[in-house]
Amino acid sequence: MFEISTQFPDPEVENDDRPPRRLDGVQAVLAAGDYLTRINKPVPFARGYLTQLQALSQCPQPNPAFAAAKAGASWIINAATGQYRDVVGRPMARAVDAQTNAQLEKTLQSKHSQCNANRYIGYLGRADSTALLVYFKADQPLSAATQNLFRLLTMQAAIAYENVHLHQEIIDTQKEVMTTLGQVMASRSQETGNHVRRVAEFSFLLARKAGLSKAEAELLRLAAPMHDVGKVGVPDAILAKADLLTREEFETIRHHTTAGYEIFKNSRHEILAAAEIVARQHHERWDGEGYPRGLKGRDIHIFGRIVAMADVFDALVHYRIYKKAWLPEQVIAYFRSQRGRQFDPELVDIFLCHSDTFFAISRKLPDC
Ligand SMILES: [Fe+2]
Ligand SMILES: [Fe+2]
Repeated sequence: MFEISTQFPDPEVENDDRPPRRLDGVQAVLAAGDYLTRINKPVPFARGYLTQLQALSQCPQPNPAFAAAKAGASWIINAATGQYRDVVGRPMARAVDAQTNAQLEKTLQSKHSQCNANRYIGYLGRADSTALLVYFKADQPLSAATQNLFRLLTMQAAIAYENVHLHQEIIDTQKEVMTTLGQVMASRSQETGNHVRRVAEFSFLLARKAGLSKAEAELLRLAAPMHDVGKVGVPDAILAKADLLTREEFETIRHHTTAGYEIFKNSRHEILAAAEIVARQHHERWDGEGYPRGLKGRDIHIFGRIVAMADVFDALVHYRIYKKAWLPEQVIAYFRSQRGRQFDPELVDIFLCHSDTFFAISRKLPDC
């Protein structure tokens, strides 16, 4: 059995050049399949699959290869190597020559992988909407052994790719549920549905700029729409009141933080655990003057500190029943004045550095 130099780069990184391991052919395919099952996003998966084909081919230089997924009516290239590197993001039909197009079309019709001299076209999936099409061109005809390894890899990768879609579906469903619930809560406070979407996007952006990982920032984006879920127990008459609240009414409103915490506190699911933090801490203040617990500084979880800013930013920028929309310069001045008081000073500095992007998101998701 011949040996293959295998590579298992970090799929989130475009050029991860860790040294290869040497495995025999079947071991290499099994290791490649195992590697692919650990990737749960479509683009990193496509990139990882191309890397594994390249390794199995034993060609020393990156070969012309690409992966494409269906988006609307077209197949769009989402990962590529060699001469196709520059066509990522473009429709496949316009990025390849007529002969290649004809071969790709044949594979799409049959929904079966094909090997033809020095070209391999893999079809992963059962239906075009959830399939991945992969094209690989070697500089010489592929040996029978390499063709077999490619087929074996494609069989394994097809199962792994189905899991990518299932994972994505679960995430999309969770996002939908969290956003819809958040919108219901927001509408009770006379806010539009886009309030929670904007708070989610501001939170994601601030989290990334503050150095949180993409996974942490995405978790926060999912949880942020839940910040006011505890308002489910606040009477409409109080939520919709335009006049000043009585002390008792104000206390009822303040309780929405603890009520939100109570809703999620027994969940071990990470999104709901994040929602518990956000619901409970988004009215805490950096100087300890917030509620419900008067937490101070870094005792407030970073998720709580971020959503506190995102929520206030959105409230200031948009019209509310009790106030007009503020001008950008008024909003900036407010955040400056609350640096180290209401808000985490470092987060305020980050916001001030990138305020244009926050205002741009705000314009993209207007109140209807
Ligand atoms: Fe709130
Ligand atoms: Fe809010």
